[in-house]
Amino acid sequence: MPQPVYKVMCDYLALEQSMGGYEAAAKSVNAIDSFYTTFADLLNATSDEIAFCENATRAWDIAVNSISFEAGDRVFVHQTEYSSNYLGLLRLSQSKGIKIDIIPTDAVGAIDFKTLNESVTTRTKAVFLTHVPSQTGVINPVNAIGEFARKHGLIYVLDACQSVGQMPVDVKAIGCDILCGTGRKFLRGPRGTGFLYVKKSILNDMHPPFVDLHAAEWTSTHGYTLQDNAKRFEGWERFMAGQIALAEAARYAMNIGLDVIQDRIALLADDLRANLRHIDEITLRDTGENKSGIVTFEIEGRDAADVVLLLRAQNINVSAARVEHARLDLEKRGISTLVRASIHYFNTEEEIEKFYTVIRNLQES
Ligand SMILES: Cc1ncc(COP(=O)(O)O)c(C=O)c1O
Repeated sequence: MPQPVYKVMCDYLALEQSMGGYEAAAKSVNAIDSFYTTFADLLNATSDEIAFCENATRAWDIAVNSISFEAGDRVFVHQTEYSSNYLGLLRLSQSKGIKIDIIPTDAVGAIDFKTLNESVTTRTKAVFLTHVPSQTGVINPVNAIGEFARKHGLIYVLDACQSVGQMPVDVKAIGCDILCGTGRKFLRGPRGTGFLYVKKSILNDMHPPFVDLHAAEWTSTHGYTLQDNAKRFEGWERFMAGQIALAEAARYAMNIGLDVIQDRIALLADDLRANLRHIDEITLRDTGENKSGIVTFEIEGRDAADVVLLLRAQNINVSAARVEHARLDLEKRGISTLVRASIHYFNTEEEIEKFYTVIRNLQES
């Protein structure tokens, strides 16, 4: 977390402590509201299309469960879809009777357009995609899927959890209807924060499964009116310090420039991939031609969870993915565990060199 992000969060908590929660919120209306305008700028949306959520998964859940699916509706999902989103679809198949069509990966590792085109039916209602899947690092062709969705009148739900903050993400250029993301990854915001974009033109057709006094106005004994904006997907009680800090994190990224960030990440991640290729026991598992700052690999004879601990002891933070984190994809590719390095712009060339040296020494020890 950058220092200014940490500071606004701590300052807000100090305000809550000194004067009380409601009072701090009343005093900070502008800072809280800046979340909506800032994310509108970041995503090229309008502020009434933005909601604050506790994380990306809940943002996805509330939006997707607000779509009026009917039994027999079909949805496309790419094999790399984020695990919890896929579980959410499985739940919808149980509760509402939707049918899930899993779209495979093409020869170069992104979503396969041929299968997609061949599989559209009159009952197909939505397409689900993860912009940058955490186990492959590929940047999926999101704009082309936007065109496809428009052509067939599908609702396009994009998980941009691993892309917002590491590259420019423009909802208009992409043509998605719903987009979710998190604060805690490339945006460098606090944990327990997330955001949702819902396109204005579909918003009024979406009724959230839960309604509170923030999402709606209680107008009579038997009636309420939902907010005419994406705040209908929010809850009244929120982590205000986190919302303010996440807005600050977005401004911090925009001040650096998302293009600048993407270029720097690409340079460092390519460098790491090139280095790792020199180690015989390592197999890089990134797919696709269009790669992000996520570098995934296996080390022969080592479980990814053990590698995480060995690297942590050297102050190198990576994570492990097991098959159950991405069953559709990893099972198909015959991979049981993966190490994931998420390179950011603040990493240095020296750190990339150290990473390589530590891994090489692991193999020699
Ligand atoms: C692609 C993707 N989507 C969604 C999530 C979930 O984000 P959150 O923890 O904010 O719910 C993750 C987390 O790893 C992710 O990689």
